[in-house]
Amino acid sequence: MGLMKHLASLCLLAVVPLSAAAEGDNARGKALFALCSQCHGADAGGNEAIMAPAIAGMTPWYLEAQLKKFRNGMRGAHPDDVGGMRMRPMSLALSGDEDVAAVAAYVASLPPALPKPVLVGGDPQRGQAIFTPCTACHGPDASGNQIFLAPPIKLSSDWYLFKQLHNFRAAIRGANPADAQGAMMRGMAATLADDQAMMDVIAYIMTLRNGQ
Ligand code: HEC
Ligand code: HEC
Repeated sequence: MGLMKHLASLCLLAVVPLSAAAEGDNARGKALFALCSQCHGADAGGNEAIMAPAIAGMTPWYLEAQLKKFRNGMRGAHPDDVGGMRMRPMSLALSGDEDVAAVAAYVASLPPALPKPVLVGGDPQRGQAIFTPCTACHGPDASGNQIFLAPPIKLSSDWYLFKQLHNFRAAIRGANPADAQGAMMRGMAATLADDQAMMDVIAYIMTLRNGQ
Protein backbone atom coordinates (compact mmCIF):
# COMPACT_ATOMS: atom_id res chain seq x y z
CA MET A 1 0.00 0.00 0.00
CA GLY A 2 1.19 3.55 -0.70
CA LEU A 3 2.83 5.52 2.08
CA MET A 4 0.02 8.10 2.27
CA LYS A 5 -2.64 5.42 2.42
CA HIS A 6 -0.66 3.59 5.07
CA LEU A 7 -0.29 6.75 7.15
CA ALA A 8 -3.98 7.52 6.73
CA SER A 9 -4.97 4.12 8.05
CA LEU A 10 -2.62 4.50 11.02
CA CYS A 11 -4.18 7.87 11.87
CA LEU A 12 -7.61 6.33 11.60
CA LEU A 13 -6.66 3.69 14.16
CA ALA A 14 -5.38 6.36 16.50
CA VAL A 15 -8.53 8.47 16.45
CA VAL A 16 -11.29 5.83 16.44
CA PRO A 17 -12.79 6.02 19.94
CA LEU A 18 -12.90 2.65 21.68
CA SER A 19 -16.66 2.63 22.12
CA ALA A 20 -17.04 2.97 18.35
CA ALA A 21 -14.36 0.34 17.82
CA ALA A 22 -16.24 -2.11 20.03
CA GLU A 23 -19.46 -1.59 18.11
CA GLY A 24 -18.14 -1.30 14.61
CA ASP A 25 -15.26 -3.12 13.03
CA ASN A 26 -12.52 -3.24 15.61
CA ALA A 27 -9.56 -3.35 13.24
CA ARG A 28 -7.01 -2.79 15.98
CA GLY A 29 -8.40 -5.58 18.15
CA LYS A 30 -8.55 -7.92 15.19
CA ALA A 31 -4.93 -7.20 14.26
CA LEU A 32 -3.79 -7.79 17.85
CA PHE A 33 -5.72 -11.05 17.96
CA ALA A 34 -3.34 -12.58 15.40
CA LEU A 35 -0.91 -13.26 18.27
CA CYS A 36 -3.61 -14.64 20.59
CA SER A 37 -4.92 -17.02 17.91
CA GLN A 38 -1.60 -18.88 17.89
CA CYS A 39 -2.47 -20.44 21.24
CA HIS A 40 -6.19 -19.78 21.77
CA GLY A 41 -7.08 -20.81 18.19
CA ALA A 42 -8.48 -18.86 15.23
CA ASP A 43 -11.98 -19.08 16.77
CA ALA A 44 -10.61 -18.45 20.30
CA GLY A 45 -11.99 -21.89 21.17
CA GLY A 46 -8.85 -22.92 23.07
CA ASN A 47 -6.17 -25.60 22.76
CA GLU A 48 -5.82 -28.05 25.63
CA ALA A 49 -2.41 -29.30 24.45
CA ILE A 50 -0.91 -25.89 25.29
CA MET A 51 -3.24 -25.15 28.21
CA ALA A 52 -4.90 -22.21 26.44
CA PRO A 53 -8.63 -21.98 27.29
CA ALA A 54 -11.62 -20.95 25.19
CA ILE A 55 -12.13 -17.20 25.57
CA ALA A 56 -14.48 -16.38 22.64
CA GLY A 57 -17.57 -14.41 23.58
CA MET A 58 -16.59 -13.84 27.22
CA THR A 59 -17.53 -10.42 28.59
CA PRO A 60 -15.12 -7.62 27.67
CA TRP A 61 -14.79 -6.39 31.29
CA TYR A 62 -13.61 -9.82 32.45
CA LEU A 63 -11.17 -10.30 29.57
CA GLU A 64 -9.79 -6.83 30.15
CA ALA A 65 -9.46 -7.35 33.91
CA GLN A 66 -7.58 -10.62 33.44
CA LEU A 67 -5.21 -9.18 30.84
CA LYS A 68 -4.42 -6.41 33.33
CA LYS A 69 -3.87 -8.94 36.13
CA PHE A 70 -1.45 -10.88 33.94
CA ARG A 71 0.31 -7.64 33.03
CA ASN A 72 0.75 -6.41 36.59
CA GLY A 73 1.73 -9.83 37.95
CA MET A 74 -1.40 -10.44 40.01
CA ARG A 75 -1.89 -13.52 37.85
CA GLY A 76 0.62 -15.78 36.10
CA ALA A 77 3.57 -14.98 38.34
CA HIS A 78 3.44 -17.95 40.73
CA PRO A 79 6.29 -20.41 39.97
CA ASP A 80 3.84 -23.36 39.85
CA ASP A 81 1.48 -21.58 37.45
CA VAL A 82 2.58 -23.25 34.21
CA GLY A 83 -0.34 -21.96 32.11
CA GLY A 84 -0.31 -18.50 33.65
CA MET A 85 3.41 -18.13 33.01
CA ARG A 86 2.77 -18.87 29.34
CA MET A 87 0.08 -16.21 29.16
CA ARG A 88 1.83 -13.48 31.13
CA PRO A 89 4.48 -12.55 28.51
CA MET A 90 1.73 -12.45 25.87
CA SER A 91 -0.22 -9.92 27.93
CA LEU A 92 2.94 -7.86 28.25
CA ALA A 93 3.32 -7.84 24.46
CA LEU A 94 0.28 -5.52 24.36
CA SER A 95 1.47 -1.92 24.32
CA GLY A 96 -0.92 -0.41 26.86
CA ASP A 97 -4.49 -0.03 28.17
CA GLU A 98 -5.95 0.92 24.78
CA ASP A 99 -4.65 -2.22 23.11
CA VAL A 100 -5.80 -4.30 26.07
CA ALA A 101 -9.31 -2.87 25.66
CA ALA A 102 -9.29 -3.28 21.88
CA VAL A 103 -8.25 -6.95 21.91
CA ALA A 104 -10.64 -7.70 24.79
CA ALA A 105 -13.51 -6.12 22.82
CA TYR A 106 -12.57 -8.15 19.75
CA VAL A 107 -12.44 -11.48 21.63
CA ALA A 108 -15.74 -10.62 23.34
CA SER A 109 -17.35 -10.00 19.94
CA LEU A 110 -16.49 -13.49 18.67
CA PRO A 111 -19.26 -16.10 18.81
CA PRO A 112 -18.78 -18.49 21.77
CA ALA A 113 -16.81 -21.53 20.56
CA LEU A 114 -18.18 -23.84 23.29
CA PRO A 115 -15.47 -26.51 23.08
CA LYS A 116 -16.72 -30.04 23.75
CA PRO A 117 -16.34 -31.09 27.39
CA VAL A 118 -13.50 -33.61 27.88
CA LEU A 119 -13.60 -34.33 31.63
CA VAL A 120 -15.00 -37.77 32.42
CA GLY A 121 -16.74 -38.83 35.63
CA GLY A 122 -18.58 -35.68 36.72
CA ASP A 123 -22.22 -36.05 37.77
CA PRO A 124 -24.27 -32.99 36.71
CA GLN A 125 -27.08 -33.88 39.11
CA ARG A 126 -24.81 -33.79 42.14
CA GLY A 127 -23.18 -30.75 40.55
CA GLN A 128 -26.44 -28.82 40.47
CA ALA A 129 -26.62 -28.79 44.29
CA ILE A 130 -22.95 -27.86 44.56
CA PHE A 131 -23.52 -24.98 42.13
CA THR A 132 -26.21 -23.30 44.28
CA PRO A 133 -23.84 -20.99 46.21
CA CYS A 134 -21.94 -20.18 42.99
CA THR A 135 -25.07 -18.61 41.48
CA ALA A 136 -24.78 -15.68 43.91
CA CYS A 137 -21.92 -14.31 41.81
CA HIS A 138 -21.78 -16.23 38.51
CA GLY A 139 -25.58 -16.16 38.04
CA PRO A 140 -28.05 -19.07 37.89
CA ASP A 141 -27.06 -19.80 34.28
CA ALA A 142 -23.31 -19.23 34.84
CA SER A 143 -23.28 -16.30 32.44
CA GLY A 144 -21.45 -14.03 34.91
CA ASN A 145 -22.22 -10.81 36.76
CA GLN A 146 -20.29 -7.60 36.33
CA ILE A 147 -21.28 -6.32 39.78
CA PHE A 148 -19.02 -8.98 41.31
CA LEU A 149 -16.63 -9.08 38.32
CA ALA A 150 -17.52 -12.79 38.15
CA PRO A 151 -16.96 -14.27 34.67
CA PRO A 152 -19.32 -16.28 32.44
CA ILE A 153 -17.86 -19.71 33.24
CA LYS A 154 -20.11 -21.77 30.96
CA LEU A 155 -18.19 -20.54 27.88
CA SER A 156 -14.86 -21.92 29.12
CA SER A 157 -13.12 -25.20 28.46
CA ASP A 158 -14.06 -27.73 31.16
CA TRP A 159 -10.45 -28.94 31.70
CA TYR A 160 -9.45 -25.29 32.22
CA LEU A 161 -12.16 -24.68 34.87
CA PHE A 162 -10.92 -27.77 36.74
CA LYS A 163 -7.36 -26.47 36.62
CA GLN A 164 -8.41 -23.02 37.85
CA LEU A 165 -10.37 -24.40 40.81
CA HIS A 166 -7.20 -26.25 41.78
CA ASN A 167 -5.13 -23.12 41.28
CA PHE A 168 -7.41 -21.07 43.55
CA ARG A 169 -7.30 -23.78 46.23
CA ALA A 170 -3.52 -24.08 46.06
CA ALA A 171 -3.00 -20.27 46.17
CA ILE A 172 -1.47 -20.42 42.68
CA ARG A 173 -4.16 -17.98 41.52
CA GLY A 174 -5.87 -15.28 43.56
CA ALA A 175 -3.43 -15.15 46.48
CA ASN A 176 -1.90 -11.77 45.66
CA PRO A 177 -3.02 -9.44 48.50
CA ALA A 178 -4.20 -6.86 45.95
CA ASP A 179 -6.43 -9.37 44.12
CA ALA A 180 -9.83 -8.82 45.76
CA GLN A 181 -11.75 -10.95 43.23
CA GLY A 182 -9.20 -13.73 43.48
CA ALA A 183 -9.57 -13.74 47.26
CA MET A 184 -13.36 -14.01 46.90
CA MET A 185 -13.05 -16.93 44.55
CA ARG A 186 -10.37 -18.65 46.64
CA GLY A 187 -12.80 -18.81 49.55
CA MET A 188 -15.38 -20.44 47.30
CA ALA A 189 -12.97 -22.96 45.80
CA ALA A 190 -12.04 -23.99 49.34
CA THR A 191 -15.64 -25.09 49.95
CA LEU A 192 -15.42 -27.79 47.25
CA ALA A 193 -14.67 -31.04 49.06
CA ASP A 194 -12.47 -32.78 46.49
CA ASP A 195 -11.77 -33.46 42.79
CA GLN A 196 -15.09 -35.26 42.47
CA ALA A 197 -17.01 -32.20 43.72
CA MET A 198 -15.13 -30.04 41.20
CA MET A 199 -15.89 -32.46 38.35
CA ASP A 200 -19.56 -32.62 39.38
CA VAL A 201 -20.04 -28.85 39.51
CA ILE A 202 -18.24 -28.40 36.17
CA ALA A 203 -20.39 -31.14 34.57
CA TYR A 204 -23.43 -29.16 35.70
CA ILE A 205 -22.04 -25.85 34.41
CA MET A 206 -21.57 -27.48 30.99
CA THR A 207 -25.30 -28.31 30.88
CA LEU A 208 -26.11 -24.58 31.20
CA ARG A 209 -24.83 -23.90 27.70
CA ASN A 210 -28.18 -24.87 26.18
CA GLY A 211 -29.72 -21.86 24.58
CA GLN A 212 -26.35 -20.09 24.44
C1 HEC B 1 1.81 -18.72 24.10
C2 HEC B 1 0.40 -19.06 24.13
C3 HEC B 1 -0.59 -17.94 24.37
C4 HEC B 1 -0.77 -16.78 23.63
C5 HEC B 1 0.00 -16.35 22.38
C6 HEC B 1 -1.86 -16.07 24.26
N1 HEC B 1 -2.34 -16.78 25.33
FE1 HEC B 1 -3.88 -16.23 26.55
N2 HEC B 1 -3.57 -17.87 27.70
C7 HEC B 1 -2.64 -18.85 27.44
C8 HEC B 1 -2.70 -19.84 28.50
C9 HEC B 1 -1.82 -21.09 28.59
C10 HEC B 1 -3.71 -19.43 29.39
C11 HEC B 1 -4.16 -20.14 30.68
C12 HEC B 1 -3.58 -19.46 31.87
C13 HEC B 1 -3.89 -20.20 33.16
O1 HEC B 1 -3.84 -21.45 33.16
O2 HEC B 1 -4.17 -19.54 34.17
C14 HEC B 1 -4.23 -18.18 28.85
C15 HEC B 1 -5.24 -17.43 29.48
C16 HEC B 1 -5.81 -16.29 28.94
C17 HEC B 1 -6.88 -15.55 29.54
C18 HEC B 1 -7.61 -15.86 30.84
C19 HEC B 1 -8.92 -16.53 30.51
C20 HEC B 1 -9.83 -16.70 31.69
O3 HEC B 1 -10.89 -17.33 31.52
O4 HEC B 1 -9.51 -16.19 32.77
C21 HEC B 1 -7.15 -14.50 28.70
C22 HEC B 1 -8.21 -13.43 28.89
C23 HEC B 1 -6.23 -14.59 27.58
N3 HEC B 1 -5.42 -15.70 27.76
C24 HEC B 1 -6.22 -13.71 26.52
C25 HEC B 1 -5.23 -13.70 25.54
C26 HEC B 1 -5.11 -12.66 24.55
C27 HEC B 1 -6.07 -11.50 24.39
C28 HEC B 1 -3.99 -12.95 23.81
C29 HEC B 1 -3.38 -12.15 22.69
C30 HEC B 1 -2.99 -10.79 23.03
C31 HEC B 1 -3.44 -14.19 24.33
N4 HEC B 1 -4.22 -14.61 25.38
C32 HEC B 1 -2.32 -14.84 23.84
C33 HEC B 1 -1.77 -18.91 26.39
C34 HEC B 1 -1.59 -17.92 25.43
C1 HEC C 1 -18.47 -14.24 45.99
C2 HEC C 1 -18.57 -14.33 44.54
C3 HEC C 1 -18.24 -15.66 43.90
C4 HEC C 1 -18.81 -16.88 44.20
C5 HEC C 1 -19.87 -17.20 45.21
C6 HEC C 1 -18.19 -17.83 43.29
N1 HEC C 1 -17.29 -17.19 42.46
FE1 HEC C 1 -16.16 -18.03 40.99
N2 HEC C 1 -15.29 -16.25 40.60
C7 HEC C 1 -15.64 -15.07 41.21
C8 HEC C 1 -14.80 -14.01 40.68
C9 HEC C 1 -14.87 -12.56 41.10
C10 HEC C 1 -13.94 -14.61 39.73
C11 HEC C 1 -12.84 -13.91 38.93
C12 HEC C 1 -11.54 -14.00 39.72
C13 HEC C 1 -10.42 -13.18 39.11
O1 HEC C 1 -10.64 -12.00 38.79
O2 HEC C 1 -9.34 -13.75 38.94
C14 HEC C 1 -14.29 -16.02 39.71
C15 HEC C 1 -13.67 -16.95 38.89
C16 HEC C 1 -14.05 -18.28 38.81
C17 HEC C 1 -13.43 -19.25 37.94
C18 HEC C 1 -12.30 -19.01 36.95
C19 HEC C 1 -12.90 -18.68 35.60
C20 HEC C 1 -11.91 -18.36 34.52
O3 HEC C 1 -12.36 -18.08 33.40
O4 HEC C 1 -10.71 -18.36 34.77
C21 HEC C 1 -14.07 -20.44 38.15
C22 HEC C 1 -13.78 -21.76 37.46
C23 HEC C 1 -15.10 -20.20 39.14
N3 HEC C 1 -15.05 -18.88 39.52
C24 HEC C 1 -15.98 -21.17 39.60
C25 HEC C 1 -16.84 -20.99 40.68
C26 HEC C 1 -17.59 -22.05 41.30
C27 HEC C 1 -17.62 -23.48 40.81
C28 HEC C 1 -18.26 -21.49 42.35
C29 HEC C 1 -19.13 -22.19 43.36
C30 HEC C 1 -18.50 -23.27 44.09
C31 HEC C 1 -17.93 -20.08 42.37
N4 HEC C 1 -17.07 -19.81 41.35
C32 HEC C 1 -18.44 -19.18 43.29
C33 HEC C 1 -16.60 -14.87 42.18
C34 HEC C 1 -17.31 -15.87 42.80
